Amino acid sequence: MSCFRLRIRNARQLVQVCSKQERFKSGAAQDDIALIEGGAVVVSQDGRIAAVGTNEQVEAWLQKQPQPVSFEKDVDATDKVVLPGLVDGHTHPVWSGSRVDEFAMKLAGATYMEVHAMGGGIGRTVRCTKASSEEELSQFLKKRLDRMLKCGTTLVEAKSGYGLETETELKMLKVLHKASKEHQIDLVATYLGGHSVPEGMTAAEATLDIVQKQIPAIIQAKKDDLVNPEFIDVFCEKGVFEYDDTKTILEAGAKAGMKINFHGDELHPMDSGKLCMCVQAHAASHLEMLDTANIKAMKEASTFAVLLPTTMYILKLCSPPARELIKNGVPVALGSDYNPNAHCLSMPLTMHMACCLMGMTMKEALVGATINAAGSANRAETHGSIEVGKFGDLLVLDAPQWEHLIYEMADPPIEHVIKNGRIVVS
Ligand code: NIG
Ligand code: FE
Repeated sequence: MSCFRLRIRNARQLVQVCSKQERFKSGAAQDDIALIEGGAVVVSQDGRIAAVGTNEQVEAWLQKQPQPVSFEKDVDATDKVVLPGLVDGHTHPVWSGSRVDEFAMKLAGATYMEVHAMGGGIGRTVRCTKASSEEELSQFLKKRLDRMLKCGTTLVEAKSGYGLETETELKMLKVLHKASKEHQIDLVATYLGGHSVPEGMTAAEATLDIVQKQIPAIIQAKKDDLVNPEFIDVFCEKGVFEYDDTKTILEAGAKAGMKINFHGDELHPMDSGKLCMCVQAHAASHLEMLDTANIKAMKEASTFAVLLPTTMYILKLCSPPARELIKNGVPVALGSDYNPNAHCLSMPLTMHMACCLMGMTMKEALVGATINAAGSANRAETHGSIEVGKFGDLLVLDAPQWEHLIYEMADPPIEHVIKNGRIVVS
């Protein structure tokens, strides 16, 4: 008897966002999705997808198994929709303290950098996070990841960056590493020591500290399996880390074995596309101020653009050039940018905003929140689409068509969230 972990059948629609394994190399269109009517999927005991297709195709595959088959869980999805688990391409989920009062300041007209200059913003969260224990931060992180899972997120890119010195950055990365082993959500960690210039330091001094102290300490802690940042990030912004300092930090991170995914062109044009080419960035986020030449440079560099509609909305920024990026063949991913400034854990709401504020279609937003976000986190081989061999990360939607996931912005009808073939939220 072969016992599979899960079978779902009779789905009114099963959404396939990736028709080609080689999606990024062959340049599939951002809105390339296919719907299977009467869809079925089977997940093996190792948590991976064993078969997917129409009911008939999957049934024929099951018939061919050498032994009789059974299922730990058999879900009848009649009148329901099956989608891939969502991927959040950009978050800052490890921090303590509160900045709820700054929301009122911003509503009254203060800009992000004005709040920062008044002692709020990132610096304030850094002070609180330094004072918190690893245990406390782990508990905050767990609650946030639980809430993300409820909203359908099954893979998340998660940054450090509220330490800005060796000890606290390591503490944050340890918290992330522990969560990656213990929590049901899969997590890709990013080291963001260059998130802000610490009080009392110049950007040049902070750059030296990152390159000479923080990165070597991270390399050592990685060898000891205490941390595992796969990416390095910097907030490349006027008055924070500008082009040359950003480049120095990113190159040092790349030399230490980390891929590059940086914050760029959020408030001012910073030539982020040119920088992507120069440092061979895997991804760059925000990009509100990106111009045509820099879009073309991102295409040339094969860099993912990770767009963050919640931040643009909260800070009343102009829209990043989503349409032009897509037209130029840059793969666009989406992230909630969850942080104390943009307090949003929900990818359905993020997709909704990407459609209403950035002019993306629902298909483009879904691809942005699944396979492209997985690609931006270097997980396209295992996450982001319902394909044989990938993790059995699925959503069952109690709705007549998949678009309800985006249309019903605040409370979409997610009936089950499935991680590795197990129902983890229902
Ligand atoms: O991606 N822009 C820089 N970093 C974060 C905000 C972090 C914070 O305000 O705490 C972002 O929006
Ligand atoms: Fe961010």
